[in-house]
Amino acid sequence: MATEQDFQASAQKYLVSASNARTFVEKVLIGSGVSGENAAIVADCLVQADLRGVDTHGINRIPSYMARAREGVLDATISPEIEFRTPVVAQVDGRNGFGFLATKLGMDAAIKMASEFGIGMVSVKHSNHFGMSAWVVQQAIDAGMMSLVFTNSSPALPVWGGKEKLMGVSPIACGAPAGKTKPFILDMAPSVAARGKIYKAKRRGEKIPTDWALDSEGRPTDDPRAALEGVMLPMGGPKGSALSIMMDVFSGVFSGSAFAGHVTNPYDPSKPADVGHFLIAMKPDLFMTLDDFKERMDYLYSRVVGCERMTGVDRIYFPGELEQLEADKRQSEGIPYTRGEIDALNSEATKVGAPPLEIAE
Ligand SMILES: NC(=O)c1ccc[n+]([C@@H]2O[C@H](COP(=O)([O-])OP(=O)(O)OC[C@H]3O[C@@H](n4cnc5c(N)ncnc54)[C@H](O)[C@@H]3O)[C@@H](O)[C@H]2O)c1
Repeated sequence: MATEQDFQASAQKYLVSASNARTFVEKVLIGSGVSGENAAIVADCLVQADLRGVDTHGINRIPSYMARAREGVLDATISPEIEFRTPVVAQVDGRNGFGFLATKLGMDAAIKMASEFGIGMVSVKHSNHFGMSAWVVQQAIDAGMMSLVFTNSSPALPVWGGKEKLMGVSPIACGAPAGKTKPFILDMAPSVAARGKIYKAKRRGEKIPTDWALDSEGRPTDDPRAALEGVMLPMGGPKGSALSIMMDVFSGVFSGSAFAGHVTNPYDPSKPADVGHFLIAMKPDLFMTLDDFKERMDYLYSRVVGCERMTGVDRIYFPGELEQLEADKRQSEGIPYTRGEIDALNSEATKVGAPPLEIAE
């Protein structure tokens, strides 16, 4: 039986610099046949998630992605293709490669179209899991654009009144640049918590809050294993389940990808995922000067974070702000991983002859 000492040892975290994490992932991917250019994109997206504290969607996903590549249900060597339909609309075919590549190509095109015409819309089909949506929103913010970023995902959530897993815990994300303050970045799953948080708790041997999921018998549970066999709970009841249907309409039905419960789970190496995404970039100065827009965003920020606080609250944050503060901290101090996570990553490296993850002294 595991002792308290074993538990503490397994919970101990080791710090890894963002650049070492990036290099490690790049080398594992290159060793698996991914081009250097594509490996750098995937590594950067995953490390951005770890930096922002969204470590449910960071480099720990590598073993599951590589298992799918080894089984031939995700083509790690392929690059996506793009076809322009109108001056402001394009479609990306992910060709069953990494979702990060198809999405980055799509958002690049959306930004280019928006720069010229004010708006750019891209539908992405035959893609895979793209991890944390906020990296796509950040890509648009870095180009000075507002954005909407939708995706569908594998069944995890019942629709309101249902009891079977049907809809995905598909994140809704959007963003807008600001002037002197923090940009607005909303990135949220329509469930009480992202399913990745349950996988992380399972990986780390931790319990979960009892309002996140039901077990296979429909009972609340704090055991991540039992939760993964059951269903996730939608946030806000029917509203959360309606938002997950919305993600399926825009990302699945509209694109020509799988939908209505037919996307494959990223941890299932038995068949292609066929995920769809929906991306929009918008120029923020369509209706006023850019300076006016930024000033208005800064004013909104100051009103939000400066409002009267409820009892017990020390500080109010803008959406995305907590993650950005965490990213600043982890950029300078390093990203924490458990020994079990590092061992699992190193075992992927061994399989392809890549060097192990370098831990900070
Ligand atoms: N690709 C996929 O299929 C998939 C599926 C599910 C989730 N995800 C990812 O999982 C991640 C986690 O999702 P989640 O719903 O658990 O996120 P979350 O609940 O941690 O955060 C949701 C949003 O609320 C904001 N927020 C949280 N606490 C706040 C506070 N105290 N004050 C102000 N704002 C606050 C965050 O900035 C964020 O924008 C996301 O990055 C999402 O993209 C991906």
